Amino acid sequence: MLFGQNIYLRGLELSDVPELMKHWNNRELKQFLNKITPQSIQEEEQWIRNTWNERKNGNSYVFGICLVETDLYIGNSEVRILDTISRRGNLGISIFNPDYWNKGYGTEAIRLILDYSFTTLNLHSAELEVFSNNPRAQRCYEKNGFKKTGVRREALFRDGKYIDIFLLDITKKEWNNLNI
Ligand SMILES: CC(C)(COP(=O)(O)OP(=O)(O)OC[C@H]1O[C@@H](n2cnc3c(N)ncnc32)[C@H](O)[C@@H]1OP(=O)(O)O)[C@@H](O)C(=O)NCCC(=O)NCCS
Repeated sequence: MLFGQNIYLRGLELSDVPELMKHWNNRELKQFLNKITPQSIQEEEQWIRNTWNERKNGNSYVFGICLVETDLYIGNSEVRILDTISRRGNLGISIFNPDYWNKGYGTEAIRLILDYSFTTLNLHSAELEVFSNNPRAQRCYEKNGFKKTGVRREALFRDGKYIDIFLLDITKKEWNNLNI
């Protein structure tokens, strides 16, 4: 488990599925994520089983985000190894319960997973994609030292129009020099 002040990160269990399914198919959430089509209980159970295999094989590390105070499971975060030689990883985060947006938990979770990526997994850099319709996520990444490196112009169709996808990354050196 990875402990922060207000949240902690832990591996997922099949018993997490009911809480996840309360929110996972909400349109408000899906607009910010890659998969916009609805997903079933069975698909989510399969996804969790898959996270165990991926972790065992060293391909990807998925954590549930939980509140320290109540243990409520509010989101997921992942670091996926993209290149074992260059030590590049891809980061993902989703606080699926909107009641817990804008309370600093995302910033804290990204901080924990970045620390894990650089100090435990020994990644050299971490990268991610964020959609132009998501200034809150962009701000969160920026607060944690991510820099914008590029744009996939009009690469995503959302709500009847094409929007941009921004590419962001951070190196281990930048992370170590960050005063947060
Ligand atoms: C994106 C996400 C992880 C952010 O976590 P969070 O806990 O909600 O965010 P935090 O409270 O830690 O920080 C939000 C920051 O964005 C700012 N913000 C919020 N809405 C904003 C907006 N519309 N425009 C600009 N900044 C905004 C907040 O003021 C805060 O910055 P500050 O601390 O400088 O004031 C979370 O909201 C989430 O999971 N959303 C749904 C899924 C998603 O978007 N995932 C990311 C896909 S790339």
